[in-house]
Amino acid sequence: MNFASDNVTGVAPEIAQALTAAADGTAMPYGNDPWTAKLSKRLCEVFETEVEVFPVATGTAANALALWQCVPPFGAVICHEDSHINTDECGAPEMFTGGAKLVGLPGADGKMSPDAVDAAIRRTGFRPIHRVRPSVLSLTQATECGTVYGLDEIAALAEVARGHGLTVHMDGARFANALVSLGCSPADMTWRAGVDVLCLGATKNGAWAAEAVIFLRPGLAGDFAERRKRSGHLLSKSRFVSAQVLAYLEDDLWRRNAAHANAMARRLADGLAALPGVDPGAPPAANMVFPILPDGLREGLRARGALFLDWPAERPGKVRLVTSHATRADDVDAFLEAARALSDARA
Ligand SMILES: Cc1ncc(COP(=O)(O)O)c(C=O)c1O
Repeated sequence: MNFASDNVTGVAPEIAQALTAAADGTAMPYGNDPWTAKLSKRLCEVFETEVEVFPVATGTAANALALWQCVPPFGAVICHEDSHINTDECGAPEMFTGGAKLVGLPGADGKMSPDAVDAAIRRTGFRPIHRVRPSVLSLTQATECGTVYGLDEIAALAEVARGHGLTVHMDGARFANALVSLGCSPADMTWRAGVDVLCLGATKNGAWAAEAVIFLRPGLAGDFAERRKRSGHLLSKSRFVSAQVLAYLEDDLWRRNAAHANAMARRLADGLAALPGVDPGAPPAANMVFPILPDGLREGLRARGALFLDWPAERPGKVRLVTSHATRADDVDAFLEAARALSDARA
């Protein structure tokens, strides 16, 4: 009953097999290997356009390096106040960009509105030279609140950003969960809606440690290769990162894994909604559920071995339950059964 995160899991068998297969023999280092070449080609097909691809090992590196490429040291990144880049990367975006400012905006359900973004860009950049230059709008898809921006919402935000000359970055640590939730194509959820650079996550959805920075606009990648190397994120044995992402895309594994994770979240949410005193929160759009559990129930569940985080700290009783490609229906049912038994005992 480990619902603490979607990175508590192991590796999808298909990806483990791909890693084992890649372990045999020699290959040129630093991305000059057949797996990396194949991955670039494959991602052009998947995104239906010419993309430039840079595999890295962590989501924080992907975000920070992508931002470094797109923001000057005197620039600003407009983002949600709860975004991972703003709250959970220990200042990596600020460090790699050489001190660019992150401007965190409030917004219900982890989402920013076009009006708020427009106002923030005007406010932040209204005295050039004296104030930082708004340079990037960063969206997280699916959001840190487990919601998903609709295609029209992404397009509206991107239109505002581009109207002011900003580049649009998408933190896609849970990209596949959002993709299956919307039932759209990767192209629709990115460049067709105005996204310029995507950090595609695979680690949370079945990979061992693999993300890809994907530049969707010609010329935008610029000096990214040097930045990745300079920061120590060009793996000499890059073939193992690329092999993971290739296997992730093969036979739609990414979509299948994400569909399973999302279905497990719905199963959890439906079960919680039937319990007295539990506010199940909004129906999950992706693979996270944020119920409010009464006092006693949280501790009782933890005493029975369930793992989950209090979320956020300032809302008493609110917790975060995350499902994954590896969540078993039996674990969801065991959690619900324990919650039911504890609720009955309290009634
Ligand atoms: C929205 C989001 N972005 C990026 C990351 C990057 O994670 P890491 O650097 O741990 O791979 C995470 C991980 O929790 C995340 O939730």
